[in-house]
Amino acid sequence: MQLGTTRQLGRANNIADLRKLARRRLPRPIFDYIDGGADDEVTLERNMSAFSNYEIVPDVLTDVSSIRTAATLFGQPVDWPLMLSPTGLTRMFHGDAELAVARAAAKHGLLYSLSTLGTTRLEALAQSFGGPKVFQIYIFKDRGLTAEFVARCKAAGFHGLALTVDTPVAGNRERDRVNGLSLPPRLTLRSMLSFAAHPSWSIPALRGSRFDFANVSHRVDALAAGPMSLFDYIGAQFDPSLTWADVEWLAREWGGPLAIKGLMTPEDAKRAIASGATGVMVSNHGGRQLDGAPAPIDQIAAVRDMLGDGPDVICDGGIRRGSDIVKARALGATACSVGRPYLYGLAAGGEAGVDRALTLLRQEFVRTLTLAGINDVAHLARRHVRRVPRES
Ligand code: GLV
Repeated sequence: MQLGTTRQLGRANNIADLRKLARRRLPRPIFDYIDGGADDEVTLERNMSAFSNYEIVPDVLTDVSSIRTAATLFGQPVDWPLMLSPTGLTRMFHGDAELAVARAAAKHGLLYSLSTLGTTRLEALAQSFGGPKVFQIYIFKDRGLTAEFVARCKAAGFHGLALTVDTPVAGNRERDRVNGLSLPPRLTLRSMLSFAAHPSWSIPALRGSRFDFANVSHRVDALAAGPMSLFDYIGAQFDPSLTWADVEWLAREWGGPLAIKGLMTPEDAKRAIASGATGVMVSNHGGRQLDGAPAPIDQIAAVRDMLGDGPDVICDGGIRRGSDIVKARALGATACSVGRPYLYGLAAGGEAGVDRALTLLRQEFVRTLTLAGINDVAHLARRHVRRVPRES
């Protein structure tokens, strides 16, 4: 890693700074793929701003000389209540791809989740990452492919599955359309100029290993059929006819910890558990699917109230500060899940950039607990957080 990169990462004070570094390093179409959301990006923005509607109500004089942060997620111990969300196409952001992210997750004692649309084979990931790991799965039209994933995940020692249910069709990502981001790229002149203007990304990308959906490419011949957009690809593979009966089928096939990712309401959370899931990821896919969907943080308390103490409730979306994790835990989340924050770090500096993102979030998380007088994350309760009173 170049000295300049080390220095820049060290100077990044927060996730917003890492985002700026990523924007400088990546060609515009690639940055926009990470950064963008669906339609008017209202939900994308709300996911973040909703956290500011909550204030943290501190205790004082509670002996905060040491802070316990350990938690359990998908039945596995983690050092603090954060997980790394599954993200597709990761090799586009840095050549070291998922393995760099997983190495940083291991260093921080966190759970890593690999996307079906990732760019590293699940067996290779499992071999080099000894920590808690989850595979993000879809129920494809081809149920045989989903059953194959279940068998491969069992053989490779994955601890859990996260079934994504908010993609009956692809969201309308207008930044990607404008940029011509497709497979292979069909770039506009402006996009091509952006690639040319970022040689530190483009040259290694051209020389590097071939971009591939490493887990599905052996079964999916669609890509070989000629240029197709990501939207077409997703549209062709996803099954809009899925129902809760399919969740029951998957839960039976897998027989282990299973979270339903991409639901929003207490009623659906209850159906998830009744269908055999052990947890839920309250998520709107980072504002990349249904624009106008509620912010996950606003749904956590109601979901927890519906499910009671047992199941994992994971808040996925809009987390940019360690204090956001404190708020989510106080409202009833088991943990938070982050995607863009670590991808900005990955784009900015590979494994060291992911490490920087996680270090910053961890420092903020522990500092917030300390200032709020909470010496064990397990003690965080509803009374530690309240909605900002409305001005009359
Ligand atoms: C993939 O799941 C994406 O949101 O791009």
